Amino acid sequence: MLFKQQALLRQKLFVLGSLAIGSLLYLVARVGSLDRLQPLCPIDGRFGPHGQEEIPLRALQFKRGLLHEFRKGNATKEQIRLHNLVQQLPKAIIIGVRKGGTRALLEMLNLHPAVVKASQEIHFFDNDENYAKGIEWYRKKMPFSYPHQITIEKSPAYFITEEVPERIYKMNSSIKLLIIVREPTTRAISDYTQVLEGKERKNKTYYKFEKLAIDANTCEVNTKYKAVRTSIYTKHLERWLKYFPIEQFHIVDGDRLITEPLPELQMVEKFLNLPPRISQYNLYFNATRGFYCLRFNIVFNKCLAGSKGRIHPEVDTSVITKLRKFFHPFNQKFYQITGRTFNWP
Ligand code: A3P
Repeated sequence: MLFKQQALLRQKLFVLGSLAIGSLLYLVARVGSLDRLQPLCPIDGRFGPHGQEEIPLRALQFKRGLLHEFRKGNATKEQIRLHNLVQQLPKAIIIGVRKGGTRALLEMLNLHPAVVKASQEIHFFDNDENYAKGIEWYRKKMPFSYPHQITIEKSPAYFITEEVPERIYKMNSSIKLLIIVREPTTRAISDYTQVLEGKERKNKTYYKFEKLAIDANTCEVNTKYKAVRTSIYTKHLERWLKYFPIEQFHIVDGDRLITEPLPELQMVEKFLNLPPRISQYNLYFNATRGFYCLRFNIVFNKCLAGSKGRIHPEVDTSVITKLRKFFHPFNQKFYQITGRTFNWP
């Protein structure tokens, strides 16, 4: 009899214990999913020490929650109205440079609760057909955001396309412009690597980098090669300066964004007049990827796609030396104009 009672008690304790553990697990999962799916508190405007609007940290969760759902097109008109969501023209644009780390910069800035990224490259200002569709078309391409947030888009082709500065100026002459640069020769090789991969995917053959970068007749750097031309940063910037003062640009060090992203992001936060909200918690080094990845919250983190961080082909050292010598005077000019010096050779 006693044995039977003890067995019954053990059974009851087991059921109660299982229930308690189950409930606990449910709660943990629920809090996580609520963070992703529902705004728990409204984003109310508060003012920080520098007079800017302070965004509650909680808003970070909205980024992966409601806004994310809306971006996927799951929102009803009623929800959009209820949450006072709008599609805003960008207050800042990452205009380039291709292969400088533009995607990483955009994704990392999007960690900030007051920033909402346009996921796709919109190519509004550099593509005549898109530009002809008008500014409303462009605005409609923007993600939903709260009125106090800022929208950022990136289209690296803007930096090198002749017509773009004037077109952006016409939209907003006080817009903030971000340019992320890398050591010019490395950038050119990265640019080549991307094209090479595209050719290989289509089973096509392609020239070696050395053949494209050096003119076979003169043995000098081939300035007709686009990957070389794009890396002459100062030439492109000078065109932009006909429309915008240098104070409207911020130069991001793309090489440093790879190895030490936080200080670079903090400088951008300052430039955009945003309260400092991106922290080391949001960035963790992933040894398998060999790059920093993004942590939005306890539940959601991500690394950039595998197409970012390709292995570059080996390039003849004499060609590298020649290219670096070629870029040197342009780099000096770039440092002088921007006021930011890099340790490029
Ligand atoms: P590589 O593929 O040459 O390594 P963009 O987005 O403008 O095309 O730039 C791509 C470059 O972003 C990559 O060039 C990579 O080095 C760099 N990058 C910077 N931070 C990165 C990150 N956290 N994850 C992946 N790539 C990153």
